[in-house]
Amino acid sequence: MHTAFGGILLAFLALLASYFVPWVSQFPVILGINRVWRPDPQFANLQESCTSLYPAELTGCEKFKIVGDSLFAACARDWDVRKKWFPPMREFERFGGAPGVIRDRVYRIDLKTKELTLLAMSNFPDALDFCAHGMDVIEVSPGEFSMFLVNHRRDGSVIENFKYTAGSREIVHVDTFNGTSYGLYNPNDVFAIPVSDASPDSEKAFFATNDHWFKDSAFGRLLELQLRLPTGSVFYHSKSTGFNKVLTGLANANGITGFRDPQNPVLFVAAILDCRITAYNYKPGAILASGGLTKLKDFTLDFVMDNLAISKDSKWLYFAGHGEPQNLPKHWAKPDEISSASMAYRMSLTELGGHFGTRGETGESRVEKIVMDRAGVLGNGSTTAIGDDELNKFWMSGLGFNGILECDLHAAGENAENEEAEEEAEEDYE
Ligand SMILES: *[C@@H]1O[C@H](CO)[C@@H](O)[C@H](O)[C@H]1NC(C)=O
Ligand SMILES: *[C@@H]1O[C@H](CO)[C@@H](O)[C@H](O)[C@H]1NC(C)=O
Repeated sequence: MHTAFGGILLAFLALLASYFVPWVSQFPVILGINRVWRPDPQFANLQESCTSLYPAELTGCEKFKIVGDSLFAACARDWDVRKKWFPPMREFERFGGAPGVIRDRVYRIDLKTKELTLLAMSNFPDALDFCAHGMDVIEVSPGEFSMFLVNHRRDGSVIENFKYTAGSREIVHVDTFNGTSYGLYNPNDVFAIPVSDASPDSEKAFFATNDHWFKDSAFGRLLELQLRLPTGSVFYHSKSTGFNKVLTGLANANGITGFRDPQNPVLFVAAILDCRITAYNYKPGAILASGGLTKLKDFTLDFVMDNLAISKDSKWLYFAGHGEPQNLPKHWAKPDEISSASMAYRMSLTELGGHFGTRGETGESRVEKIVMDRAGVLGNGSTTAIGDDELNKFWMSGLGFNGILECDLHAAGENAENEEAEEEAEEDYE
């Protein structure tokens, strides 16, 4: 054999072994071929405790965020409009201005009283589209909130910043952040870092995922999806630095969240087509400096997750997603005929880098399966979930949901055996 050819063959085989084989073998996992559709025993009765909050108003809320007693949700106003224009689902029908502007909605639910408020956007120009997707809300000072919302305008996707004051019935538009000239064509979700007087760099500072490289080529996006191309990225923005691409090579960068505590600033990013969540350490105010963003750990899961959320007690990373992602576009097209499996897990954050569980966990930290809903009984196309052990509550919504689901996290009827198992598990993992 010619040596050069032998070299090429070896290189090819090495590539095959190191890249293609794992790449191909991940397909059945992604598609949920051998998935066992059973939540963990401690969540077996969760489903029976669920009610749907405001199904007529809270439609297609891809993302919601709980801050204190407030649940803020970014929702579709009109299914017909959303089915025509929603870049994340490869809907690019520009409908020639037919329905006028797209005006999705932002709501607040008071979790104490369950009162729903449609938040008016009175200073947001009437002529501008507002097509909601990912979002983040932070409390910048007591009662003052800063809200970041991805807006897929038909003339380009941007991130809008609004102010919200506790008790008010409106959000006030403050800023539009347009990262398209830096390559942020397809923002998906946002993780905002609080405004700090000490560091001008952190003002209006946020990370945003960019899920696709192709802007509006439906075919290009189909390739990215089917071949799971690592063309997603993460951008960092602050007033003083502007937009910078800080992470690349992610197969559909989607959910993003983190810890804002300056003592423990950690960023979590989901590369969903690799079923992977990666934790990074970041240096607030110095993210662009050398060592400003360093990888801590990869967590490989067994499904295509979507948004990420950290529980109030900082102990769990919650993520909802798509158990049979191949059915999502079919459900989108025929919501009454084909279901799109909803799933939600939580991963322990108190065992980061430490303990590796042995109880059927699918990640490299303790993972609990909360919702395994193949038929979409609770809802179709789940994208966001979060729980609260102290309040014993769990919330979930998604692309095809009508209403935000509220459940008891640890439902009554949990039998003694399960409680025992749980206690045992706790002991094990302490
Ligand atoms: C964003 O910036 C780009 C490049 O400067 C511009 O072409 C585009 O119109 C802007 N998009 C919006 C929605 O303002
Ligand atoms: C989910 O989709 C299936 C199939 O179309 C449908 O039967 C079911 O009612 C949907 N679930 C909800 C909660 O709407």
